[in-house]
Amino acid sequence: MKKAILSVLALTSMISACYYDNAEELYGTTPCDASAVTWTSDIQPLLQTQCVSCHSGASASAGKDFSTYTSVKASLNSAVGRMNKPVGDPLLMPPSGKLSTCSLTKMDAWVAAGAPQN
Ligand code: HEC
Repeated sequence: MKKAILSVLALTSMISACYYDNAEELYGTTPCDASAVTWTSDIQPLLQTQCVSCHSGASASAGKDFSTYTSVKASLNSAVGRMNKPVGDPLLMPPSGKLSTCSLTKMDAWVAAGAPQN
């Protein structure tokens, strides 16, 4: 009996989780909250997923490493410049396509705040 209740609970939470995701995708209701952007929760994960596969280690593309705060800070202007190139520009980074407007907005907010290591 306990098991049955648990599985019903698990199933319910899975269904509601899916529903939530779909609603966001369908109606585009996810607001872009760039009011409390931090290095740890926003910028580092963004660069980690979008840039670090090419830009880290001994064979980093263009010798640029974006895997640590210090190395990102050192190349911040060129990194932001490349992210904001127009679609189709061969210099756009990442090469696979422009980051989402929300990601770019968060990046701008972080830079405007002085690119803190928060
Ligand atoms: C698929 C691999 C790949 C990914 C992912 C990638 N880059 Fe690059 N990046 C390159 C290559 C290759 C070059 C060298 C050619 C060039 O300058 O366009 C480069 C060059 C650069 C340069 C120029 C450095 C210089 O001093 O000339 C910057 C800045 C840069 N990338 C930033 C980024 C940022 C920021 C991201 C993530 C948003 C990113 N890249 C994602 C492959 C990648």
